[in-house]
Amino acid sequence: MEQPVQEAIRNRRSIREFIGRPVESELLQKILTAGIWAPSGLNNQPWRFVIIRAPEIINELATQTSYAHVVQGAPALIAVYLDREIMYDTVKDHQAAGACIQNMLLAAHELGLGAVWLGQILKNKDQVNAILQLSDQYDLMALLAFGYPQHRNQQSRRQPLTDFILHEFGGDTT
Ligand SMILES: Cc1cc2nc3c(=O)[nH]c(=O)nc-3n(C[C@H](O)[C@H](O)[C@H](O)COP(=O)(O)O)c2cc1C
Repeated sequence: MEQPVQEAIRNRRSIREFIGRPVESELLQKILTAGIWAPSGLNNQPWRFVIIRAPEIINELATQTSYAHVVQGAPALIAVYLDREIMYDTVKDHQAAGACIQNMLLAAHELGLGAVWLGQILKNKDQVNAILQLSDQYDLMALLAFGYPQHRNQQSRRQPLTDFILHEFGGDTT
């Protein structure tokens, strides 16, 4: 039986090197649509996005992170925000943003794109808002970089599953 969701979850990797080919608007729309179908508390949909493909803005954003080479090499960026006026619970709204972002990364993988979640730039979130002409009503959650990957030999590791299980109460009943 095909398990495309599990395949995507398992095989998605953070891609930081892209070829120059532009990312089509249609693909960005599909990625954003995957994002907004994430769950959110009370279905409040607190996420907001800025789509960036203009080289001058990409270059300005690159000055705000130690991952400048990743940002500069990406043909498309999406800045993911929470709208403070829509938020109702700090933890739950941040969880919703994470779910939204993961949906977008998985959609990009399925569409043949590479992507990476950039969080280090959050230390300069005020400067990013200024570059993107946004007031502090909008709280930056992540900058996502997208492009066609230069290669797909990126490796990643996880600790064994058993390391993460604190307790298991009960089991299979047959
Ligand atoms: C909250 C968060 C912040 C991250 N920030 C960065 C970042 O600033 N730069 C970067 O290159 N990768 C960043 N990553 C990607 C992680 O390094 C990557 O997900 C991790 O090493 C596991 O690799 P994988 O995504 O290929 O499985 C971030 C991931 C998360 C979830």
